[in-house]
Amino acid sequence: MDTPLLEVKDLQIEYKGRRSLKAVDRVNFELQLGDNLGIVGESGCGKTTLAKSLLGLLPDNGSVVGGAILWDKTDVSHYSENEWNRLRWSDIALVPQNALSSFNPVYRLRDQIVEAIRAHESISVDDARRRTEKLATMVGIDPQRLMDFPHQLSGGMKQRLVIAMALALNPRLIIADEPTTALDVVVQDRIIRQIVELQNELKFAMIYISHDIAVVAETCHLIAVMYAGQIVEYGLTSAVLKKPIHPYTMGLKNAFPELRVDKPLISIPGHPPNLDPPPTGCRFASRCPFATELCRQSEPPMVELPSGQKAACHYVDRALELRELAAKAETWRQVPAG
Ligand SMILES: Nc1ncnc2c1ncn2[C@@H]1O[C@H](COP(=O)(O)OP(=O)(O)O)[C@@H](O)[C@H]1O
Ligand code: SF4
Ligand SMILES: [Mg+2]
Repeated sequence: MDTPLLEVKDLQIEYKGRRSLKAVDRVNFELQLGDNLGIVGESGCGKTTLAKSLLGLLPDNGSVVGGAILWDKTDVSHYSENEWNRLRWSDIALVPQNALSSFNPVYRLRDQIVEAIRAHESISVDDARRRTEKLATMVGIDPQRLMDFPHQLSGGMKQRLVIAMALALNPRLIIADEPTTALDVVVQDRIIRQIVELQNELKFAMIYISHDIAVVAETCHLIAVMYAGQIVEYGLTSAVLKKPIHPYTMGLKNAFPELRVDKPLISIPGHPPNLDPPPTGCRFASRCPFATELCRQSEPPMVELPSGQKAACHYVDRALELRELAAKAETWRQVPAG
């Protein structure tokens, strides 16, 4: 097996404030070039925090307090801003959620992309312009539109150019954090298809973050399900979504229409727990219809099946039975409110 491009080991990230909060807690995964990992989970589960740590973009009150981020075998988790500047964009690039914040309204789009490329690479203006035009074509934008100002393009077009920017220095990892959430569904769909095509063609590794499990089903061959700062299930997307072994994944799957043709939507009652401090035992216990005293007392270990699919639940061996129960609305109605 090749050395992974990225290895996240027991990663812990804390935000300091009036009370400290561990937004990411003992997260493990690795990526090879060409891998395509989707990270899903409800809002507040730590997805963006994890993404930011992989780009050296944690805010001042956030820091890595445990574990490691190995990029090409080097631990970058405590890199300085200068060290991150060398890595960010050229090796690991971000497609942010909001394209609007990526462009300055008073400059033509072409000039902004050219300047950004030249800030990282010694390349002539003409060469940078040629590359910019090629990138625009790759993401389906007529290069002539590069002479426009940002407000002259639709949200979808701007988001395509943000993707073009992320590709500009040929990075080995692209992290897309809810890249289409602000767009309407049709545009969203087209852009997602484009990202998948580019990834197949250029073979970079990708981490695609979304609260929408159906989007990840379409986009990624690996999936990590995050809950309350932790990965609770991990594996091949096809396997995890067809046969989830963690009740949280079973619940998430119920809530998305694309994955439940002709079936009623069932949402998971309640909200993710407060993490200061985190609940003892399983963090999902207060919302889980299958929780027992054991779940409330003791934190479930991550269990790996022979197929490589993993989940942190005490009852992985009852997954078949729990899946059948989890598909019924009355099962979730039994969860006490609060
Ligand atoms: N700058 C910050 N300071 C303190 N807490 C934060 C900060 N940013 C995020 N958080 C908290 O960290 C947790 C994870 O947030 P986030 O990573 O944004 O989750 P997600 O992307 O899954 O919605 C949440 O409880 C959120 O309130
Ligand atoms: S450990 Fe218990 S509470 Fe947690 S997901 Fe499994 S069954 Fe539910
Ligand atoms: Mg987020």
